[in-house]
Amino acid sequence: MRRIAISVAASTLTLSLAGCSMLSATEDGADASPTKGNDITVGVLMPEETNTRYEQFDYPIIKKKVAALTGNQGKTVYANAAAKAKTQETQMQKMIDDKVDVILLDAVDAHSIADMVKTAKDAGIPVIAYDRLAEGPIDGYVSFDNELVGEVQGRSLIEALGTADTSDKVVMVNGSPTDPNAGQFKQGSLSELNGKVTIAESFDTTDWSPKIAESNMTKAINKIGKGNIAAVLSANDAMAGGVIKAFEAAGVNELPPITGQDAELSAVQRIVSGEQYMSVYKSYPREAEAAAEMAVAKIQGKAIQFDALTRKKVDSPTDKDVPAQLVPVVALTKSNINATVIADGIYKVSDICTSKYKTACASIGLK
Ligand code: BGC
Repeated sequence: MRRIAISVAASTLTLSLAGCSMLSATEDGADASPTKGNDITVGVLMPEETNTRYEQFDYPIIKKKVAALTGNQGKTVYANAAAKAKTQETQMQKMIDDKVDVILLDAVDAHSIADMVKTAKDAGIPVIAYDRLAEGPIDGYVSFDNELVGEVQGRSLIEALGTADTSDKVVMVNGSPTDPNAGQFKQGSLSELNGKVTIAESFDTTDWSPKIAESNMTKAINKIGKGNIAAVLSANDAMAGGVIKAFEAAGVNELPPITGQDAELSAVQRIVSGEQYMSVYKSYPREAEAAAEMAVAKIQGKAIQFDALTRKKVDSPTDKDVPAQLVPVVALTKSNINATVIADGIYKVSDICTSKYKTACASIGLK
């Protein structure tokens, strides 16, 4: 028995050693520089500013985590492209010229940025795609489970309708066509809506712009009739804000169920007051901290740690089997504000329950 146990232990050891050498063999030398210590620079490129998440949560959390992982020696440099793909290319070129050690890239246009990803790679700078799956030779990807985001939105919308009927007319306000997440959100929600309701109108929204969402919604209201829209599947909170404005401008007082995503403060307040049915809460700390960990592990040549952080594999249109981490998400409705954004320290009750929302907050026990 003992001999068997020992030989099993020995073979496990051989296996895990083989595993180690395989792990380092997958490092391609250009980007694995085990000599790098804590004095490192992480370049962070975010796509836009209309949505509050990037500057309020993603970047500050990444910055703090990089500092924590490097005994306060590691630096982050930051640029936001304000939804302009060309601006992002220039920002990324500058980071390459400045010789940052690694780049976390949330692409404005996941396709057109591919050449710049290649330029970084050729310069020995690994690129980790953040939130949106950039094309080109990226070294890793961290995001939420984006198809699940859409499923959660679709399922919540059906739940809000109670007895969904194929005669129920739903308007879909989708995200930007240059963002691969938008396609996944749409696919996820359609998998829940198809066959249960009628998709009366469906728009893709340039730059995820709330203003464009508002004008598309106005078109839909004029076409379908303001009393004939059963629900609106809005892909995110900022656009849900635009959708609500369009309904208000059309004189609609009783809003249909409207979805969102991101748990923006204004959206959480609209959920409290009943103007918006739900949002999708995506834990920013989990995504942003994982990104910081991946970036630091990558530059410091900690292949085993990097692999442990990226147990999934995803395919982009240009690259197969990209090591990835996909963080799960939850629906955020009136009933779980406490258990999500409050519990995670994203907002305090006092942030949400300002004087305008005091009564509504009290009615759902938020105090
Ligand atoms: C993100 C969403 C965000 C949207 C607009 C998507 O890629 O996953 O959280 O609302 O972009 O910025």
